[in-house]
Amino acid sequence: MTAPEIKKGLAGVYADYTAISKVNPETNSLLYRGYPVHELAENCTFEEVAYLLWNGELPNDEQLAQFKKECHSGRELDQATIDVVESMPKDCHPMDVLRGAISFLGTYDEEHFTPSTEHIQKIARRLLSKIPTIVALDIRRRRGEGYVAPRTDLGFTENFLWMVFGDGPDSPLNKPGDVECFEKSMILYAEHSFNASTFTARVITSTLSDAWSAIVGAIGALKGPLHGGANEAVMHNMIEVGDPSRAAQWCKDKLANKELVMGFGHRVYKKGDSRVPTMEAAFRKLASEHEGTEKWVEMYDIMAETMYENTSINIRPNLDFPSGPSYYIMGFDIPFFTPLFVMSRITGWTAHIIEQFENNSLIRPLSAYNGPDERHVEK
Ligand code: COA
Repeated sequence: MTAPEIKKGLAGVYADYTAISKVNPETNSLLYRGYPVHELAENCTFEEVAYLLWNGELPNDEQLAQFKKECHSGRELDQATIDVVESMPKDCHPMDVLRGAISFLGTYDEEHFTPSTEHIQKIARRLLSKIPTIVALDIRRRRGEGYVAPRTDLGFTENFLWMVFGDGPDSPLNKPGDVECFEKSMILYAEHSFNASTFTARVITSTLSDAWSAIVGAIGALKGPLHGGANEAVMHNMIEVGDPSRAAQWCKDKLANKELVMGFGHRVYKKGDSRVPTMEAAFRKLASEHEGTEKWVEMYDIMAETMYENTSINIRPNLDFPSGPSYYIMGFDIPFFTPLFVMSRITGWTAHIIEQFENNSLIRPLSAYNGPDERHVEK
């Protein structure tokens, strides 16, 4: 028998069709339901993009008003969920808290789970509404601050910034550049075809398990530093570099040691990440509005240039490279960068769960055995 061809990491394998987004590495573009992501980031709110991902079309005014009404009114957490979050150790990773809290929310989904589009959309709206409240609560309790209830009169980003930072003069809520940069990051992070966490959600869905389980699994996949966890690693690295004057040598040392530099490279894009230009522009604007933060931009530029010039594949930044320092400048604690990613990607995950259910086939690849030949127990 000829040896099977192994596609390590499933690289280059088409596992299914999707109508949700199109990643085109040749043209360095990303479309959500046909719309270029940079156009959406320039012209739409994150809530409009969430609606688009779930319904296939951008909402009209009436649809948007109804959608916002429903999402905004679902933001509050009940006491049982607050207690669950509060009971978790303050030194565990915030992604673990989110995983646990969402798993808990799923246990008292008032309706028995059905794989209907309607029911999954309901779960999706519930999570879009409640995840920011869970994340904000977790941020605050670690700082020794109490729960701040969500507001129904604010948009997605404004409400989240309100719950985390309040509305004092130093709050990002009162800095239009911060609000704009955060909102853009949410739009850019929302969806990216069959990435590892989305594929995890689709694998779980393909067994006809429930949407809550699929999302909890996706959170686990996103946590890894080769995936969503990279935005945290980027900032840890920048802090380790400390000063732009050390940035070039730091990158060269990493490359010489054959170590990965987080925030660079991509499984699909080999000529640059389509989302980076928009996020990079937002990062530069943000930094220009925050005194004393120019050094992160300087470091960003030096690291990007050094990595490009010193790798045979001319490696370029991915979305996590500009988003990491952006969240840091806004005042978020580094371990929360990946939960911020979840707040956005929940839209893409749930769109894919619906799509998988609508045309399901159990996802179950083959493996080629390379262990010991058959042998027998000798006693
Ligand atoms: N730093 C240093 N070297 C890198 C690198 C990085 N971030 N990313 C890739 N390379 C190297 C690889 O080690 C490989 O070297 P080799 O040929 O000597 O083995 C070469 O570049 C080609 O790698 P490639 O095939 O393009 O990578 P991949 O498709 O297997 O992996 C990632 C893609 C995303 C997993 C990888 O680029 C990575 O680990 N990046 C850092 C984590 C990160 O930022 N993740 C977020 C992704 S959005």
